Amino acid sequence: MDKIVSLSRRRGFVFPSSEIYGGLGSTYDYGHYGVLLKNNIRSLWFEAMVQERDDIVALDSAIILNPKVWEASGHVATFTDPLIDCRTCKLRFRADQLEQSSCGRKPSKHPGETPDCDLTEARQFNLMFETHVGALEDESSIAYLRPETAQGIFINFKNVLQLARRKPPFGIAQIGKSFRNEITPGNFLFRVREFEQMEMEYFVPPAEAERWYRYWIDERFNWYVKYGIRESQLRKREHSAEERSHYSSGTTDIEYLYPIGWSELEGVANRGDFDLRQHTEHSGTKLEFVGDDGERYTPYVIEPAVSIERIFVALLVDGYDEEVVAERERTVLRLHPAVAPVKAAILPLIPRNADMVEKARGLYDELRRRHIVEYDDGGQIGRRYRRQDEIGTPFAFTIDDQTLDDDTVTVRDRDSLAQERLPIAGVRAWLEEALERPWRTPKA
Ligand code: GAP
Repeated sequence: MDKIVSLSRRRGFVFPSSEIYGGLGSTYDYGHYGVLLKNNIRSLWFEAMVQERDDIVALDSAIILNPKVWEASGHVATFTDPLIDCRTCKLRFRADQLEQSSCGRKPSKHPGETPDCDLTEARQFNLMFETHVGALEDESSIAYLRPETAQGIFINFKNVLQLARRKPPFGIAQIGKSFRNEITPGNFLFRVREFEQMEMEYFVPPAEAERWYRYWIDERFNWYVKYGIRESQLRKREHSAEERSHYSSGTTDIEYLYPIGWSELEGVANRGDFDLRQHTEHSGTKLEFVGDDGERYTPYVIEPAVSIERIFVALLVDGYDEEVVAERERTVLRLHPAVAPVKAAILPLIPRNADMVEKARGLYDELRRRHIVEYDDGGQIGRRYRRQDEIGTPFAFTIDDQTLDDDTVTVRDRDSLAQERLPIAGVRAWLEEALERPWRTPKA
């Protein structure tokens, strides 16, 4: 993980937030390549979940909702972690994770293991961030930053059913920020307090719930494989009844083998009719499906839910590679071309040569209209290649002496380092075809 954090920082993917003020624990800002990578994750998810399907529509609900939403959903009462304070070192720990925590005074020991440790009883700590709406700051104005995007979908069920003229099975997908006052954030972006969720609530006839639950586990698993994550580093893990959330009648995590061990990348849950029933009861608005033939029922909900941050880390970990080529070490991010922040680099071999620069600039201007590409004329060609390898750019087009003679360029493949020559006029079509090709990582 240290290498990923260091690369992210060095190449401006991600850096600690509010750094000039000493930071704010586990809060991060995204630089240029981080933004590009996040954009790609977001749009590939949207493509698979909405664009390529007839049965799912999009939604963008508010972050601050009527607080009654969170009473109905169970978050006010149960979205808590058990917390223990140490009166000696003044640190806070998750009561259920003492074995994974370190004592504030003696880090080699767990909290409670030294004679100086003075731990309080465990008490429940709600993870929702509170705020106030309006000018008054009293009980009546309390509101919450949403801890998940899902509830914004449930409370719009009726709108979508009527306005988008849908009938189960159909889904509503949403991407947006969620906030949780995590007690033990950490492991880079893996557990943060502000993150971007991508959730889809799929409403089905109750009798079909189990089938759709299995369907979405497979769909989502295959999506990761399609975008190049090694299957050996992915697994499905079904929760035991004790582990499941209050709303779930079945949950399977798609786990990735992060440097911290197998951990949840995405969760797929069968939420039954819990949410629609709760909101029907608390709001007084019936959230049910009524068919043309008078058939009526409360749909069950299957939910695949993930954050961009967890995918971001999985992609960087899975893509990170080091190798020695011609006695020189190179660091390379072996990202699927569709995911890579920059699709191609355009490099004039000799930056002082005005003709090469002109050709390179011309190609850059042509490609940038359709793709994120980068023009680079800073430093030796070897260094420029290595800079692109580090950010995962799959292709580099080099303009050299021969280009000036016959209008061909060299294309270099990031993974194999193979080079071939192409007519400059055919580069755009070549790149478009190359970006569509299936890709498998050469990493073992
Ligand atoms: N609507 C269901 C729900 O929110 P969850 O398992 O609490 O379920 C869903 O969260 C997904 O959101 C997780 O699988 C994970 O990808 C992501 N996630 C949850 N907490 C996170 C955090 N603190 N930082 C980054 N991602 C988080």
